[in-house]
Amino acid sequence: MTFPIAVLASGRGSNLAALIDARAAGRLPVEFRLVASDKADAPALRHAEAHDIPTFALDPKTFTSRAEFDAALFANVAASGAQLVVLAGYMRILDAAVTAQWTGRMINIHPSLLPKYRGLHTHRKALKAGDAEHGASVHFVSAELDGGPVIAQVRIDVRAGDTEDSLAARLLPNEHRLLAACVDAIARGEVRERDGRVWFHDRALERPLALDAAGRLAGA
Ligand code: GRF
Repeated sequence: MTFPIAVLASGRGSNLAALIDARAAGRLPVEFRLVASDKADAPALRHAEAHDIPTFALDPKTFTSRAEFDAALFANVAASGAQLVVLAGYMRILDAAVTAQWTGRMINIHPSLLPKYRGLHTHRKALKAGDAEHGASVHFVSAELDGGPVIAQVRIDVRAGDTEDSLAARLLPNEHRLLAACVDAIARGEVRERDGRVWFHDRALERPLALDAAGRLAGA
């Protein structure tokens, strides 16, 4: 069984790389149909090309509106046959027509314990608030920025002396494990979105799933 996915990324692409590695290790039953970006020079695209994954980039500046740009980008995503879109460091807000069209079929990784700290500078916000814990969330995408139903979270302790950089660096490998686990669970049909809620097997979640020691999703 292989489940066709597309990944959207604007930058470095370490989350994409983690998915490709998990696939190569036989831990992720997916087929990468497309890696697309709003930045033609994104390292994520080079990484995909190095693994023979089709890539596609579009420059938002050549479109007159967000709606037109997203319609063009997602026409290519749909044509790839992807059944799931993974936003992995994709730094553009999406048009509501696209989020409506892909409801339940698009997920995003966000570096905070949502609903805390939507948007940018999440590590700075966690430090400023004096939080004892920080983390990352994977959620289904809705029209609201970083606001869709949360599938799963991973938590790390904030340590004395942490900086934005140290916190980001310690969180990143955990993000990678979380994203791979969520994509795996969706590919296997264990996780889905229905009526604005996340379902895990046959129950609607009251709270996000967590990663167990084996790196699989488990109820809290
Ligand atoms: C990650 O921290 C992700 O959570 C955030 O942007 C970063 C992307 O990193 N939204 P990468 O491009 O996957 O390395």
